[in-house]
Amino acid sequence: MQTPETFPTLDDDAILQLNADGKLRHLLTLKGLDRNCLLELLDAAQHFVSPLGSAAVRNSSLAGRTVANLFFEPSTRTRASFDLAAKRLGADVLNLDVNTSSRKKGESILDTIYTLQAMQVDIMVIRDASAGVPAFITRNIGDHISILNAGEADVSHPTQGLLDLLTIRQRLGDFTNLTVAIVGDIAHSRVARSAVQGLHTLGTGEIRLVSPPALAPAANEMPYAKIMDNLDDGLRGANVVMALRIQRERIADLDGIPDVDDYFANFGITQQRLEQAAANAIVMHPGPMNRGIEIESSLADSAASAITQQVTNGVAVRMAVLERVSKVMAPI
Ligand code: CP
Repeated sequence: MQTPETFPTLDDDAILQLNADGKLRHLLTLKGLDRNCLLELLDAAQHFVSPLGSAAVRNSSLAGRTVANLFFEPSTRTRASFDLAAKRLGADVLNLDVNTSSRKKGESILDTIYTLQAMQVDIMVIRDASAGVPAFITRNIGDHISILNAGEADVSHPTQGLLDLLTIRQRLGDFTNLTVAIVGDIAHSRVARSAVQGLHTLGTGEIRLVSPPALAPAANEMPYAKIMDNLDDGLRGANVVMALRIQRERIADLDGIPDVDDYFANFGITQQRLEQAAANAIVMHPGPMNRGIEIESSLADSAASAITQQVTNGVAVRMAVLERVSKVMAPI
């Protein structure tokens, strides 16, 4: 039986997600996706955005397809938005409740996947706390199935990266003159990694990663980003400030990790601190957010906040990705 906690992590996820013609077949990572591919996905997603209060955009491009949401880790936004996105494209949707599934009786992740494959699922949306799971499943599943990464350990969260890019583009336009400050627990953040990959590909002017030293990434991991440990320096002149929560569930040893009061005092984003940023600065947060720890509550609800816009864009981005991978499937 496959041990569920350890999966091989190889370096070719970027290639694995493309078919022989270079088209997106799975979405495992933003790494390796070129500028055109990212812009095409953002443009497609933009077509799925409609004003709140108006009818949601729908089409039938996934009619006859089945999408399974397999979240082996908690989620509100990603899971709900993949569910809505697939339904708005006309798919049948299966939301597997992992807590009442046979995984609890010791069934391996692959046997769970093979069981759903036998039920003619076409697209599997996977979230897992272990690194390597989406690629491992991709390598072991039938060729006719697409795998979408909905959050992989601290490694990658590609649809979050796309929705963050879409939100920044809607609010501020071109990336080349922007300074983006990502603040918080960078070391354990799949959101930061995917955001940095996408921002770098789109030519963002300056990317800053601001955190207490205990939560900083390895110095050589993202050479095109500036690692900083002083919030005031990090915010100065920034156009985008993205706050991240401390991912305590991924930290075995909390030694050196600031407590919540310390954290808010030194790294919490507040209205007052934001005055050092650019005049048009926006504040983002992938959620779930801890008000009063990484972000001041009133700031999260202010005009500078793009947080609910990120959530809205999450549905649109997931529609764009579902539609894109369905286009390279054999017709039904
Ligand atoms: N941003 C994000 O992944 O949120 P959820 O954990 O609620 O899906």
